[in-house]
Amino acid sequence: MSSSGFSFSAALSSVQSASAQSASVQPTSAEKAKEAPKATFSMSSALKSSALANVASNSEAKTVTDAEAKLDAQAEKVSDVDKALLSADDWQRGDIKLRCVEKWHETHDVVSFRFQGLTPVKFNYKPGQFITFKLEIDGEMVYRSYTMSSSPSRPYSIVVTVKRIEGGKVSNFVAEQVNQGDVISALGPDGVFNLVDIPAEKYLFLSAGSGITPMYSMSRWLLDARVGSDIAFVHSARSNDDIIFADGLSSMAHRSAKFNLNYLLESAPELNEGVNHTGNDSRMLGRFDIGKLALLIPDFKQRTIFVCGPEPYMAAVKSLIETSGFNMANFHQESFGGAANTSSVINKVSSDANSSAQFMLKIADKNIPLSAEQTLLEGIESEGLPIIAACRSGVCGACKCQVTSGTTESSSTMTLTEDEIVAGYVLACSTKITSDVTLKM
Ligand code: FES
Repeated sequence: MSSSGFSFSAALSSVQSASAQSASVQPTSAEKAKEAPKATFSMSSALKSSALANVASNSEAKTVTDAEAKLDAQAEKVSDVDKALLSADDWQRGDIKLRCVEKWHETHDVVSFRFQGLTPVKFNYKPGQFITFKLEIDGEMVYRSYTMSSSPSRPYSIVVTVKRIEGGKVSNFVAEQVNQGDVISALGPDGVFNLVDIPAEKYLFLSAGSGITPMYSMSRWLLDARVGSDIAFVHSARSNDDIIFADGLSSMAHRSAKFNLNYLLESAPELNEGVNHTGNDSRMLGRFDIGKLALLIPDFKQRTIFVCGPEPYMAAVKSLIETSGFNMANFHQESFGGAANTSSVINKVSSDANSSAQFMLKIADKNIPLSAEQTLLEGIESEGLPIIAACRSGVCGACKCQVTSGTTESSSTMTLTEDEIVAGYVLACSTKITSDVTLKM
């Protein structure tokens, strides 16, 4: 994990005052933000005066007293909630209990949920990161990671957007069974596909389907925190009805002349050949290819590219972009759920490990035979030992455990700090053993 989280915290602090503007004050510092409850109280007082005037017209003193007491109690309650939120601690890492405070449909098969901490917190994450839900489904604990579609520039809640998938047990459970008022457990945030760990000057966001979620978070962050950022956005969807966040994106394009919004639609009888310009976006019929990209974003080779979508889409985009002569050092894709990043091999003690070799994995009083081809996670799960494995691809950090003796080879250490690596921590899903190993979980 990059140490840039600290500088991010500073950046976040600088924009938290901006998000507090929605409380009808315009704070420029944390001190001013704390004055927001006063503004809220004043509004309540105004309402109270109006209500009292109506009641007083009846000239019933007792009714007036009761109404006043009731409004006072309401104002105090609202004020307490605001104060608790405004003075809440940052949540940047670890387990958390979340309460669903809002749920709505984005499209016919995509649902968004707004969560707040059961204990009030300010959510401190990097735009593009994900959170891992811990859910009990049919008596079984399951872990599933979802990218946040909200921006950390509005830290008092997070929004998670979930697409229903044919046969998708967990996503369908979340979409159908989680409702306003429910409390769920989660951990995180995680993920290196974010705007803090990948700095850029000019952005090109390419997404398809629900892969738009991290791009939406990033765009909201840039428009809130780095005002005037040069953003080109090309989203692929089946049809107009399948565009997720259509209204939010349109509003961003309306606000910022440097937010260049484009859609590629597979089925859109209303579109003509070539580029179709609408009020806030440009549209083309068909799937992604370099010809369309060059038409919509002529300077795409001067940009840093972020890609997220279904695996076939990402593979096709990568191949096409690479063939175009693009500098792939500026190409980044969300590897969530895909193969581990083999470019970050560490803890490598043997490059010629015999793949048929058998070693012994020792965990507490258990001795588990493991081949050089199996991961630590496979060994742990074969014995039914408890371990959280949300992404299974070295991205979420949920399967962290400590090697106390023996040697290993890891294909990802994405979420580990330097200190953790020195102390022997590895990601079980991305680590194979190259000798007998003792593990602490
Ligand atoms: S399961 Fe996510 S890093 Fe291993």
